[in-house]
Amino acid sequence: MTNIRPKKTFLEVTHLDKIGITLKGSGSYVPQQVLSNHDLSRIVDTSDDWIKTRTGISNRRIAKSNEDVSVMGHIAASKAISMANWSPDSVDLIILATSTPSDLFGSAAIIQSKLGAKNAFAFDLTAACSGFLFGLITASQYLNSGSYKRAIIIGADQLSSYVDWTDRSSCILFGDGAGAIAIEATKERNNLYGFTMKTDGDRGCFLNLPNNNDSGRINDDIEFKKGNFSQISMNGQEVYKFAVREVPLIIENLLKKTNFTSNEIDWVVLHQANQRILDAVGERLKIAQGKVLSNLSNYGNTSAATIPLMLDESIRKQKIKKNDLIISSGFGAGLSWGAALFRWG
Ligand code: ACO
Repeated sequence: MTNIRPKKTFLEVTHLDKIGITLKGSGSYVPQQVLSNHDLSRIVDTSDDWIKTRTGISNRRIAKSNEDVSVMGHIAASKAISMANWSPDSVDLIILATSTPSDLFGSAAIIQSKLGAKNAFAFDLTAACSGFLFGLITASQYLNSGSYKRAIIIGADQLSSYVDWTDRSSCILFGDGAGAIAIEATKERNNLYGFTMKTDGDRGCFLNLPNNNDSGRINDDIEFKKGNFSQISMNGQEVYKFAVREVPLIIENLLKKTNFTSNEIDWVVLHQANQRILDAVGERLKIAQGKVLSNLSNYGNTSAATIPLMLDESIRKQKIKKNDLIISSGFGAGLSWGAALFRWG
């Protein structure tokens, strides 16, 4: 009789009771094209001063047509793999957090192929600006369960394709980019201490990128809805109020749950939406402003990419060092928000 014993899982191989997570590598990519506030002031009624004062943004990067999410995500992921010192075929799982896939059936598989990560399964995850954080937590569960050992989580978005470039209240905010983090399961330690994720679909109408309501006919009797997305529509003030209220709350609760205090935090890495939101969250948590990392000025809001992009820049500049304690929170459309507490390295 043929032996049909299944392939051993990581758990069976290592005989672990508890499996921890470590963060091993980071990578990022931003497009070359820079769109400044001055450029924007020539296409809509705005000014460099208004944008800087209200948002903290000076420039954003805009992807060209040959620089889609799979291209940007691949470069970010391959840098993360190389920092982790892994071979691509040792990766088990790839999660791509994006709202702007290059293929609606999924772009993670395109990245898996480009990386040569032939043993990895890959899928897209959509949770707008909370996507990277939701992806990190999802991947960590596969690793904690002992089923898989190595995962790459990518946050990549190309919102410039869906921005209404005539709407001054939203077009000033968004840019394109990608970031990635490589995580590994280990029995030696656990550097991901806790997390919380939340969704409130009742307030989803404050930020949408809906399908147009175009329909067609297959024949005289049967109608179908055409696939064709419109542009970002946003109630900026409501999104702002939501972020300033919910993000400090979720962080405070997570610190309580994990028995840490805000004094112990080395860095706060928030979704980069608006400098005023970052300042308000830091103030509410009584965390020194210098610890709330920001690169908004250079890139604006790159949606799912902001958190891994911020992490990667700070890790490569050796601002974030091995064992530094980081609280991170993503928030945005859905409405969705989440937080995670972890150490780098
Ligand atoms: N330039 C000049 N004036 C402007 C501009 C602009 N670009 N945009 C709006 N204004 C005007 C408005 O018309 C208004 O004029 P009025 O008083 O004559 O009516 C005035 O400025 C004030 O407008 P507000 O909307 O009150 O400005 P606010 O201070 O709230 O700033 C902003 C607007 C920057 C959009 C802010 O609300 C914000 O950042 N909100 C959060 C948005 C966000 O983060 N969205 C993404 C979430 S992440 C995701 O999932 C994609």
